Amino acid sequence: MSRAYVFNQYGGPEGEELIERPVPEPGPGEILVEVRAAGVNPVDWKIREGYLGREADLPVPMGREVAGVVAALGPGVEAFAVGEEVLGPVAPGQGGFADHALLRAEQAVAKPDEISFAVAATIPVAGTTAYDLTHEIELETGQTMLVLGAGGGVGHLAAEIGRVHKFRVIGIASQDKRDLVESTGATFVAAGHGAPAAVRELAPQGVDLVVDLVGGQALRDVAPLATTPDRIVSAADPRTVTELGGTGRSRDPEAFEKITSVIGYEVITPRISGEYPLDQARQALAVVETGHAVGKTVIVP
Ligand SMILES: NC(=O)c1ccc[n+]([C@@H]2O[C@H](COP(=O)([O-])OP(=O)(O)OC[C@H]3O[C@@H](n4cnc5c(N)ncnc54)[C@H](OP(=O)(O)O)[C@@H]3O)[C@@H](O)[C@H]2O)c1
Repeated sequence: MSRAYVFNQYGGPEGEELIERPVPEPGPGEILVEVRAAGVNPVDWKIREGYLGREADLPVPMGREVAGVVAALGPGVEAFAVGEEVLGPVAPGQGGFADHALLRAEQAVAKPDEISFAVAATIPVAGTTAYDLTHEIELETGQTMLVLGAGGGVGHLAAEIGRVHKFRVIGIASQDKRDLVESTGATFVAAGHGAPAAVRELAPQGVDLVVDLVGGQALRDVAPLATTPDRIVSAADPRTVTELGGTGRSRDPEAFEKITSVIGYEVITPRISGEYPLDQARQALAVVETGHAVGKTVIVP
């Protein structure tokens, strides 16, 4: 048997439950992975709330990204061997907060030896999103990138990528994330009413790229800082960013592999603020559901 964290009704966290089920069998093109770490993301509770639809059969397994050890291969899989360490997004309909998860082999990559399973588990969703947002509009060395929500899972990685590219990075976050934001090499600006004026003082000509992980009014407040509206990209709020003249995230099919190798070279370091055993998955999700997470939260079965 194998444990899996699921929700059995759409809505609040009271529908979440840790269940026992048979070890899943990999279908064609799939690999079975013994999960060593799974990243927690805002999308996990957004799916549970039904914000992304309510069509999936209940119970719905939770968790979108994992790192672990290949335990079995489905028919036709040749790219991996049993015992290999891998990371990747879970296959459609599958969950990562579990002892075992199914991945599409074509979407998985080998885990670099240099990084832990916990770090690897932050890459398929947060790392790849940070890569996409920072590469959609190519900046040049010395140009200014503003990250709204720079202390969260995606934001701190976007700030780190900016440092590697030698952009000038300004990160907006709440006061308790100052150290984290500054450790990425970014200039910290405290979130709140004074933030746009503080950024304007640092960049009187405006910023060359706004990377948004917050959306709503906070995004509207900083939008005029962009040199042109099309230099705003948002993972958090596609509707508002489009209205403002910017764009949502667009996915580069090579992003996952590229950001995995960069993190493998240890030039970018995902910060993990909490590791929770599987029987405390509810607490791990609650931390992220506050909307004020620091770096990344992972579940380690
Ligand atoms: N489209 C996609 O493919 C995709 C992929 C990944 C993520 N996302 C979305 O992107 C967003 C961020 O994801 P994440 O994983 O980075 O979430 P996260 O780890 O929860 O981080 C969000 C950060 O936003 C900060 N924040 C909240 N209100 C703020 C404000 N007014 N000003 C400045 N910072 C503020 C929070 O910290 P403070 O305590 O500082 O407020 C927190 O650190 C979520 O909405 C997520 O669903 C979308």
